[in-house]
Formats: sequence, structure tokens, C-alpha cells
Amino acid sequence: MAMIAKQCPDIQVHVVDLNQARIDRWNSDELPVYEPGLDEVVKEARGRNLTFSTQVDAAISEANIIFIAVNTPTKSFGIGAGRAANLEFIEKCARQIAKCSKGHKLVVEKSTLPVRTAEAVKRILSSSANGATFDVLSNPEFLAEGTAVQDLLHPDRVLIGGESIDAVERLAQVYGRWIPRERILTTNLWSSELSKLAANAFLAQRVSSINAISALCEATGADVDEVARAIGTDSRIGSKFLKSSVGFGGSCFQKDILNLVYLCEHFGLREVAQYWEQVVVMNDYQKRRFSERIVRTMFNTVSDKKIGIWGFAFKKDTNDTRESAAIHVCRDLLEERAKLAIYDPRVPESQIREELKLAFADSVGGLSDKHKKLIETNVTVVSDVYAAAKEAHAIAVLTEWDEFKTVDSARIFEDMRQPAFVFDGRNVIDRNKLVAQGFEVHSIGRPSK
Ligand code: UGA
Repeated sequence: MAMIAKQCPDIQVHVVDLNQARIDRWNSDELPVYEPGLDEVVKEARGRNLTFSTQVDAAISEANIIFIAVNTPTKSFGIGAGRAANLEFIEKCARQIAKCSKGHKLVVEKSTLPVRTAEAVKRILSSSANGATFDVLSNPEFLAEGTAVQDLLHPDRVLIGGESIDAVERLAQVYGRWIPRERILTTNLWSSELSKLAANAFLAQRVSSINAISALCEATGADVDEVARAIGTDSRIGSKFLKSSVGFGGSCFQKDILNLVYLCEHFGLREVAQYWEQVVVMNDYQKRRFSERIVRTMFNTVSDKKIGIWGFAFKKDTNDTRESAAIHVCRDLLEERAKLAIYDPRVPESQIREELKLAFADSVGGLSDKHKKLIETNVTVVSDVYAAAKEAHAIAVLTEWDEFKTVDSARIFEDMRQPAFVFDGRNVIDRNKLVAQGFEVHSIGRPSK
């Protein structure tokens, strides 16, 4: 929305949310999300044609176009728990829009939704008490965190799904202000909804594919980055999204694939469901394999040993930790009674502790006293890489932050216990240099050195 406001100064954009604290942060100098370049975009438009408030009803009644951008997390309870999307917030939005609208409005689904949700939104909207009428469009977002501003400025494509040609055209005109028309694709509603799930499934599948190969590389002596380069230069395969890692994270991939799996099962497509589910199974395996490798390498015990954790966000250039591979690795190491010193340049301590508590919680969110104590006593959150490495037996690199590539590794080697193990879950450190300095380095998809 900030990008639309920036690019179209004559369009008034009102962002509304029920959460006052969050809105306050959008109105402050410290935005609630870290995203390179976003501060400038928000500052340029805020106060001019971009506002943030909790005045939801007023904003609905004034608007011509309403974007629904609420979260659709995986259901944690009831039918479809662990797979289906929780559509509670979408439904509440649609009901509020129905209640507060008059005249004709365009309602745009921006949230990632299961296929045919627009149908449900339309039915709810048709119950509007004030005789309002609506066109419902699907306009899924394809930006990635960490590169959001660039992705919004120069998207590969914008997708708009809908039944009414006029409504689709009205939205296309907004994007058309800065995006070439040939990049604005229009489809029917359900193709648009499905394309979003399918795009994320294909992207995640590539990561799981290269991660599957990484396990074979470690076993055979091949180097996964060399294999990725060799296969990626085939223009039919392409070079992007072939970076082997400790596992994909983020709020989207796993959720969207599980959603796809649930849909396939719902329509009786068992083999299709199993096919896509394997992408998530492989990702879980990759995360588990990494922590098991740490324990196995460190003489089968990490109990009471300090391990420096470098990076907690699910990828670099974001403070988002949702589904981060780091959570799973830290949980496994804590189960083994390791002492963790965690450093991430953007993630605050409270968020790290909250994620770890959730990782140990049972299905209804309860945390045992044992696990609570384990997190309190065995986790410290530190403010730089050196503090994380000081007197540590090992370092585990879990996010590919650029600053990890330029650390003073000689200083770190002096500070660490010997043998000084480095487990690089992102293949970002200069392995040959570290080995020459005396470290024992274990990377993803490469034989150990
Ligand atoms: C993803 C998609 O890339 C976006 O197109 C989509 O709009 C977004 O989900 C969404 O549905 O909202 P995002 O989750 O922000 O974006 O980040 P990605 O760059 O896709 O990375 C996801 C995870 O895969 C990260 O943990 C990343 O480290 C990992 N990854 C990515 C790899 O391990 N290797 C790669 O080669 C690429």
C-alpha cells in the first residue's frame, strides 16, 4: 500500500488495522518491519496520501477499492488442523466490509488464500444490509521479504483475477501507473488464487530439490554449489533459487504448500497431495539433519557446550523469524542440553525467546516448566558475532547475513575452544580461509574439512 501511495500521489491510501500498537509503530520513526528501502517509501507518502489508523469502519465507508491483507495462518485446531488455512480473519473482514459499505465497491483479496475463497467472500458481501454491491478481485502478492521494495517497483508480473472486465481494468490502471501493461496479467478468479499457491510450491520445491541433492553431496564428496552452478546454467532450469541451505523458512512456503495439500486431499487427489507434501517433508529432514550433524560431529554430545548461533531470521535483510530454520535447529540443540549464545543483527531478544517458547509448546500452547527453565538457563542473546563465539565449542551459521562474511576470523579462532567447529548452514563463510586458520568447517552439501 505504501508503494501504491508513493507511485500514485493523487490516490488516498488509508491503511487500517485493529492493532493500535502496530498502527502506532507505522506512524513512528521505527516501522514494525525491517525492510531495506521501506522507510524512505513510507516517509515520502505518509501524511501526504498515506495514513495509518484504527478507524476501520470509516475507512471502509470512504473507500472505492478495499484491499484485504490479513494473515491466513495454518489452522492449529479443529478440521484441517496443521494444513488448512485459517480463514477466520478474512471472514471477519468481509463481514465488516458488508456492514460498513454503501454504493458499489471493489474488494481485492491480497492475502494468500485457498482456491475458491473469493466465492465465500462474495457470498458474505452479498448480505450487506445497506444494499451495497461489490466486485471481488484476486490480486496475490509476489514480493519476497528483504527485497520487497525492489520487487514492488519492478515486479516480474502483477496478477489480477476477476469476473468483471471493468473491475479488473480499474485495478490494472492503478498498477499501470508504474508497471508496464504487458506485465499485468489477468485471469479468472480461481486461476489467480491457485497461481499464488502454485508459484510458492514451485519455488519451495526447488529449494527442497537442491537440499535433497545436498545430502547426497555430503555422502559422495560432490559439492552442492558446483552442482547447482552446473545445472543452473541450463537455461531451461535457470540459476535462481538453487542455493542449498539449512532449510527454507518464512511465513509462506510451508503454509501455502500445506494449504495446497489440503485442497488436493479435499478434492480426492491423494497422489497429488502426497507429491507436494514431500517438499515439506524434505525441508523438515534438512533442518533435522543439520542439528544431528552438529551433535554427531562434536563427539556425540553437545551437553553443556556453548554453541554460538549466527542468525535467527528466516533469511537475510529481514527481522521476520516465522518458520525460521533457526528455531528448529536451536530447539534440537537445546533438547541436547547445549548452551546457546544467539546473535542476529535485526531480531530482538524478546522475539527470539518467544519463538523458542512456541517451539517447545504443546498443541494448545502450553509450555512445561522444564522447557521454560531450559530456555531461561541455556539461552543467552548477545549483541555481536564475537560475543557469540567467545569460548564457544562451535559456531552454527543459520542466516546468510552479509556481515558474517567479513568477520575477524583470526580473533574468533583465538577466542574459541579447540577444536573450533563451524557449521555453515548457508554456505556463506570463506571455508578455505577458515580451514587454513585452523577451524574445522562443516558446510551444507560439501564433504567436511
Ligand atoms: C516467498 C516468495 O519468494 C515470494 O514470491 C512470495 O510472494 C512470498 O513467499 C509470499 O508468499 O508472500 P519469502 O518467503 O519472503 O518469499 O522469501 P524467499 O526469498 O522466497 O525465501 C524463502 C526461504 O527459502 C528462506 O528461508 C530462504 O533462505 C530459502 N531459500 C531461498 C533457500 O534456502 N535457497 C534458495 O535458493 C532460495
